[in-house]
Amino acid sequence: MPAVVTTTGLTKKYKNQTVVDSLDLHIPEACVYGFLGPNGSGKSTTMKLLLSLVEPTSGEVEIFGRRMDRSSRRHMLEGIGALIESPAAYGHLTGRENMRIVQHMLDLRPAQIDRAVASVRMEGQMGKKVQNYSLGMKQRLGIAMALARDPKLLVLDEPTNGLDPAGIEEIRDLMIRLAAEEGITVMVSSHLLAEIERMATVLGILQQGRLIFQGSKEDLVDRSLPDLLVDTADPDIVAHTFTRSLPSVGTNRVRIPEVPVAQTPEVVRELVTAGARIEGVRREEQSLETVFIKLTGREGLL
Ligand SMILES: Nc1ncnc2c1ncn2[C@@H]1O[C@H](COP(=O)(O)OP(=O)(O)OP(=O)(O)O)[C@@H](O)[C@H]1O
Ligand SMILES: [Mg+2]
Repeated sequence: MPAVVTTTGLTKKYKNQTVVDSLDLHIPEACVYGFLGPNGSGKSTTMKLLLSLVEPTSGEVEIFGRRMDRSSRRHMLEGIGALIESPAAYGHLTGRENMRIVQHMLDLRPAQIDRAVASVRMEGQMGKKVQNYSLGMKQRLGIAMALARDPKLLVLDEPTNGLDPAGIEEIRDLMIRLAAEEGITVMVSSHLLAEIERMATVLGILQQGRLIFQGSKEDLVDRSLPDLLVDTADPDIVAHTFTRSLPSVGTNRVRIPEVPVAQTPEVVRELVTAGARIEGVRREEQSLETVFIKLTGREGLL
């Protein structure tokens, strides 16, 4: 799959703080790329770097196979729709008036505006002043503004922020549809795995400016270290073989924590060699959320 976005050693420092640290992003074409990380990990800054809103301290950005620099960026940005941090619509104007400004600024056809508005299901709200919109409506208008130019790449910074579950579901369906049906590459950030898990096919996880994981959800699950539950007539032997402080779940069941999947046969062989009578062995699979939390090491905070 060709990459739409590739960065090489992308770095941004503010004074002494490295907020984006040697990122090598690889965003395949027509995927939904979930860009995850806790507050302050550098998601927005990275997106601003991709959009040339911020100058990198070092490193390179390549989009659509072309290096982004001073002379190329204007042309390249025409193919990118973006919504960074909060939507930039004028509150005292209606949705329709805001979209008209976008239309004139980007020299678009009315049909492009109508299509973008319909995509986010905002046709019924266009006569209302934006200051009277709910947060979800504002987000959706922001996405319509980003979509109006028919971008090949859409960069959305926390588009589900503040939305109710139905609103999140709608945005999720829209992202999936844009990627699958229109071949648009969608990069979407969030600090919540649950919001992104079902729409993203590729994940990039940022922590303190570093990319600690990049790959498919399946790759992430492969990183899991499930507990092994061993039913045995000799719980003492099983417990003793691995660690003296193993917690016994039941009298005949011993939990061996965090066994890499590939090492399961070896663990079982070791138990048998130690003389334990094994009645059953079961892996307790980990959810994506658990793997993610273990990887980022910030339980509950992401
Ligand atoms: N213009 C700036 N000057 C100095 N520091 C900045 C600037 N912009 C961002 N930072 C710092 O860079 C770090 C990363 O910020 P960034 O906004 O990229 O994080 P984020 O992952 O988007 O966080 P959030 O989830 O809260 O939106 C933070 O420590 C922030 O204070
Ligand atoms: Mg941010």
